[in-house]
Amino acid sequence: MATKDERRAELTAVFREARVCTRCPELARTRTQVVFGAGNADADLMFVGEAPGAKEDEQGIPFVGAAGKLLDQLLGDVGLARPDVFIANVLRCRPPGNRDPLPMEIENCSDYLMRQVELIQPRVICTLGNFSTKLLRADPTGISRLHGQAEILVIGQRAVRLYPLFHPAAALYTRSLLDTLRADFARLPALLALDPPEQPPPAAPPEPAVPEPALAAPEPEPVPVLVELPRQPYEPAPPPEPEPPDDRQLGLF
Ligand code: URA
Repeated sequence: MATKDERRAELTAVFREARVCTRCPELARTRTQVVFGAGNADADLMFVGEAPGAKEDEQGIPFVGAAGKLLDQLLGDVGLARPDVFIANVLRCRPPGNRDPLPMEIENCSDYLMRQVELIQPRVICTLGNFSTKLLRADPTGISRLHGQAEILVIGQRAVRLYPLFHPAAALYTRSLLDTLRADFARLPALLALDPPEQPPPAAPPEPAVPEPALAAPEPEPVPVLVELPRQPYEPAPPPEPEPPDDRQLGLF
């Protein structure tokens, strides 16, 4: 079982790896920087959004635009602040023009998210919107049917309570969604107060490698046959012919 400091150091190592990631060539070319995620490396509560937007790409921090301001407010309403939680996204790079993440990009980036979950070890993960909900539930059911209903799932190697919420960006424009998001948020403290979910048994150590059948003894190297050459009496080579003088070397043209 890794200590808190070891998990934090490992998270920093994952950050260093992600910072120079080129798994998605288009995103690597168009991003200003990778938005790895930010917050408490030992948080009980983690949020997973969709992908960085223009402001996040500029600052390297998730949820710093208008949707982020709403997220800060919602956190404040339940007595929490950014340093209490960890915030990440399905993608760590901004899709150009804020287009939807592509399936291949989601797949490429999901390994970073799994490692973040395993190292931060949150008890509750709030997915924000459809992309993170579908990814972490490995199911296409949409957020409208799932929001506000917690379930225990194994993500990476960790059992967590997954609590899907509407994306704050969607709630910015639709009053009824904002009311629903507020009501769902209000249930977070009770969820955090529950006993942590029971963890699955640690993954079995890898099977010992099956020994390879002994290889046949290598063929003996052929012994070079040395042929005695008739001995020649030694005659020193004649001295080289003097080189014809090079006109240029002599300064003559
Ligand atoms: N929307 C997201 O999903 N993530 C961000 O980081 C910002 C806006």
